[in-house]
Amino acid sequence: MGKSRAFLEMLSLVESLAGTDTTVLVTGESGVGKELVARLIHETGSPRGTYLAHNCAAIPEGTLESDLFGHVAGAFTGAVGARRGLFAEAEGGALFLDEIGDISPRLQAQLLRVLQEGEIRRVGESRVRRVDVRVIAATNRDLAAEVRAGRFREDLFYRLNVVQVRVPPLRERRSDIPRFVRRFLERSVRKGEPVGEVLGPDAMESLLTYSWPGNVRQLRNEIERATLTTRGRGRIERRHLSEELRDGGASLPAIAGTLREQVERAQRRIVLGTLQRHRWNKTRSARSLGITRQGLIKMIHRLEIPMQPPAAMRRSWEEAPTGEAA
Ligand SMILES: Nc1ncnc2c1ncn2[C@@H]1O[C@H](COP(=O)(O)OP(=O)(O)OP(=O)(O)O)[C@@H](O)[C@H]1O
Ligand SMILES: [Mg+2]
Repeated sequence: MGKSRAFLEMLSLVESLAGTDTTVLVTGESGVGKELVARLIHETGSPRGTYLAHNCAAIPEGTLESDLFGHVAGAFTGAVGARRGLFAEAEGGALFLDEIGDISPRLQAQLLRVLQEGEIRRVGESRVRRVDVRVIAATNRDLAAEVRAGRFREDLFYRLNVVQVRVPPLRERRSDIPRFVRRFLERSVRKGEPVGEVLGPDAMESLLTYSWPGNVRQLRNEIERATLTTRGRGRIERRHLSEELRDGGASLPAIAGTLREQVERAQRRIVLGTLQRHRWNKTRSARSLGITRQGLIKMIHRLEIPMQPPAAMRRSWEEAPTGEAA
C-alpha cells in the first residue's frame, strides 16, 4: 500500500494495535484510502470475527437506526420481517462505520450507549441486548471542529477517538505515486505492458508535482481517464492528462496555496527536471544546482521525490542512448 515515510509511520501505529480491539477513529481527507486502512486495522488487530462495513452518509435516520441496531417485525411501515442489525451480525468481530461525522444526534446517543455499555435496542422493542463488537469509525470531517460547532457529541468523540489513525494525504506521500500509477495501469486495458512503455516522463513529472486534493481516488481516475484518451495505444504523455494536471493546478487559486507551498512546488519541478537531465546521477545534479550532494539528498527527502527514477522516467534515456535525456 505504500513505502513513503508518512505512510510507514501510519503503518507502525496500526501494527502497534495488533492483538487489541480498541475503538479506532480513522481520519484523513477524501480519497486517501480510509476504507482500506480500516480493513487493515481489523486484519492486524484481532481478526477473530466477522468484519462488516457500513457507510453512514446520506442514509435517513430511521433506516440507519434499523441497519445498525435491527428492528422487530412491524416496527414501521415496510418492516415486514425482523432484522438483527449490523451490531448483532458483527458480534465477536468488528463493525466499520464510515462517514461517522454524518450521523444524527439521536444516533450519536445510541452509538455512545453501545460503546459505553455494550448495549443495543432494536427498533420497536424495549428489550436491551448485549453486544461485543469492535468499532472502527472513519470520517473526512474535522470531528473536533464539529464538536466545537455543537454538531457532534463531545463524549462520543472521546469514545471514538481512543486511538486516531490519520491517513496522510497523497501530497505528503508523493514517493508512493509511481507505485500507485503502476498498480492502476496494471488494472487498466494496458495489462501486461511495462509501465515505462505506457507512461511518458513528462506525464510522470506532472503526476509527481501535482497537489492531489482528491488524493488516491483522483489519481486513479486520472490514470483511467488518460488510458481512455489514448485508447490504449501510444504512450500517455502530459498532453493526455486533464487540464488541471497539465498546468500543475497553478491556475486554481484554492490549490495554488501558501507561499511555502508554491515555493516547494517550484523546487520540486526544478529538482525533478535536473535529476532527469542528469539521469538521476545525484552528484552531477547537485553540482549543476550549485548545492552539495548531501544537500540534494535532503531536498529529495523533504520534497518527497522518489530516490530512484520511476520506470516512466528511466525509459526516456533508455530510448536515447547517445545524448542527454529529453
Ligand atoms: N493503498 C491503496 N491501494 C490501492 N487503491 C487505493 C489505495 N488507497 C486508496 N485507494 C483507492 O482510492 C479510492 C479511495 O479510497 P477510499 O474509498 O478508501 O477513500 P476514503 O478515504 O474512504 O475517501 P472518502 O472520505 O471520500 O470516502 C478507492 O477507489 C481505493 O481503491
Ligand atoms: Mg470512504
